[in-house]
Amino acid sequence: MSDRDELLQRRHRLLGRNSPLFYDKPLNLVRGDGVWVHDADGRAYLDVYNNVPCVGHCHPHVVEAIARQTATLNLHTRYLDENLLAYAERLTSSFDASLNAMMLTCSGTEANELALRLARFVTGGQGIIVSDLSYHGNSTILAALTSCFPTGEPFPSYARAVKVPDPAHDRQHRSDDELATAYARHVQEAVDSLQSEGIKVAALLIDSFFANEGLPDRVPGYVEQAVEIVRRAGGVFICDEVQSGFARTGDAMWGHQRTRVTPDIVTMGKPMGNGYPVAAMVTRREWIDRFGLASHYFNTFAGNAVAAAAGMAVLDVIERQDLLKNSHQVGAHVRAGLEKLATKHPIIAGVRGRGLFFGVELVRPVNRAPADEETKQIVNRMRDNGVLISRTGRYNNVLKMRPPLVFSADNADHMLSVLDDVLRSYG
Ligand SMILES: Cc1ncc(COP(=O)(O)O)c(C=O)c1O
Repeated sequence: MSDRDELLQRRHRLLGRNSPLFYDKPLNLVRGDGVWVHDADGRAYLDVYNNVPCVGHCHPHVVEAIARQTATLNLHTRYLDENLLAYAERLTSSFDASLNAMMLTCSGTEANELALRLARFVTGGQGIIVSDLSYHGNSTILAALTSCFPTGEPFPSYARAVKVPDPAHDRQHRSDDELATAYARHVQEAVDSLQSEGIKVAALLIDSFFANEGLPDRVPGYVEQAVEIVRRAGGVFICDEVQSGFARTGDAMWGHQRTRVTPDIVTMGKPMGNGYPVAAMVTRREWIDRFGLASHYFNTFAGNAVAAAAGMAVLDVIERQDLLKNSHQVGAHVRAGLEKLATKHPIIAGVRGRGLFFGVELVRPVNRAPADEETKQIVNRMRDNGVLISRTGRYNNVLKMRPPLVFSADNADHMLSVLDDVLRSYG
């Protein structure tokens, strides 16, 4: 039995057979540096998938900050901690002035749970609106709201799911304004439907980049109109920045800053500690004060001294290495390269994404049907050729690429050339 088969058997025995694994031939990765990861046999893979190690795998500045603080003190937030406050000051300063205080959590799930609790508290409503292909976390409520993959919990009666704006499929010669209004109408219908059952709207919970929804191109004006409708009904806008935050989109530090809307509540996580569990909810101080008076909130590990050190070190690197600019510039280079591949390979129906986050939609050239099986094969072939990507989308036919932000133009050229080779066998 090979080492991999043996590990797989042990895993099935210990973690269950259905604990998700990437690739037909799962990888046993043992080391990482920058945009590279290495398996147990010493083979290197270009990581074009992982956004959590946003400043690169094992970045020495982050490793050093975590190690130093671990060796000094690591306690929860019920003591004064100047480092945590310095971190909170620095992080909140990247938002609109109205978003001036934060509560820390350990995961994006916890941040979204807290955001829903807060939204219900400040609005007095219960109704929640999400997209019809969303994922915001794995708690009981968030699992029930999930629609981009199956969960055991039924979709709740207090929630409505609205159609994801997807101009590549729905444009039908309409202008951006017409499209935005058409999609926003679904939000109005959701509000009306909740109200007709006596349910007051508490929140619209969306990722303005629609990362789990297959990364459709932005419809300018949609988020603005949707938020206005929800606010008019007395609800608030929770913007999930777990994927689109921290310079990922290349235009601004936060995905919502590409729109003209300031959210009421922002949630974040994944890249925040480069792999150390740090997540948060940022909102108005006044709401946090009122909520804290009514609900005692404590989270043992959230915002502990090491989490604050990790978060601060990530911000240092994003700034010092100007990773926002890198995300913008290398992102534009990748997108141009992918669009060139689209002119050569008829299986490519379209390229989406901004900054260092891309989707490549694949269809069967004969009938334009979603090429889900081929997409799966291509992801596996890329892995066999040393490049790690994944797939997403309503039909699982969109290649998903989302490398660490230190991805260079050379890395991009390498990825593009491997993809070009792999796509040659698909017509
Ligand atoms: C948009 C979005 N929100 C929230 C979450 C949940 O974050 P976590 O896995 O840290 O709980 C995820 C995780 O994939 C996500 O993609």
